[in-house]
Amino acid sequence: MNILILGDVMGPSGMVAIVKKLPNLIKKKKIDFVIVNGENAADRGVGITKKNTEEIFEAGADVITTGNHVWDQSETMEFITSEKRLLRPQNLIKGSPGEGFGIFNSKNNKKVAVINLMGNIFMKKCEDVFEAAKNFIQTVQLKKDADFIIVDMHGEITSEKMAIGYLFDGKATMVVGTHTHVPTSDHRIMKKGTAYQTDIGMCGDYNSVIGMNKDNSLAKFLKNPAAKKHYPALGEATISGLMVTADDNTGLA
Ligand code: FE2
Repeated sequence: MNILILGDVMGPSGMVAIVKKLPNLIKKKKIDFVIVNGENAADRGVGITKKNTEEIFEAGADVITTGNHVWDQSETMEFITSEKRLLRPQNLIKGSPGEGFGIFNSKNNKKVAVINLMGNIFMKKCEDVFEAAKNFIQTVQLKKDADFIIVDMHGEITSEKMAIGYLFDGKATMVVGTHTHVPTSDHRIMKKGTAYQTDIGMCGDYNSVIGMNKDNSLAKFLKNPAAKKHYPALGEATISGLMVTADDNTGLA
């Protein structure tokens, strides 16, 4: 079982890369299940529209995860209730629309659970991420409730993401971080068999400040009065993510 998860799709260039490159990547690498973090897919690089969602699914994604920008396009709160393959963080404030996890069928007919979590530190206010993770571990068990379990831990700080990784070791197929748009070089299989990477990076133009136009970002940091609201860099996007081959018997990496 080959599982691919791609990092935050960043604005128009990220969308072009997904539409152009993902279908071939799926074929070439014989990928059975694809998760894409889509929370920055909209034209301004924040939020995800219904059109973005449809295009990412058409390109071959099975599930789309999000994070702190999930509601930045006002239409998302509505269409998420009828599009169960689009997840928002599980630990959003109680009563938020949509779902934070689901169990989906892969192309080769396996049951794949996907949970989207969001960190508490330097992020939008949300419920305790460790409580949400503990509850999920008690509710959805590997090989009992799902053949494979994938965790997208959307967070700013490395320590919180790593700790979530260890909490799931042996209990999930893979735990990956998203949100910083910068891939970390610590991808590994942990002691009890769970694949882990602190951040899988973004699908966007890397000649930028985390996907945003670098000259404008710099002008903002320098407090230049001519600086505008952040807008995406529009150069060619690089696809970034993690592919894991999982064992059908154990569900582990
Ligand atoms: Fe984010």
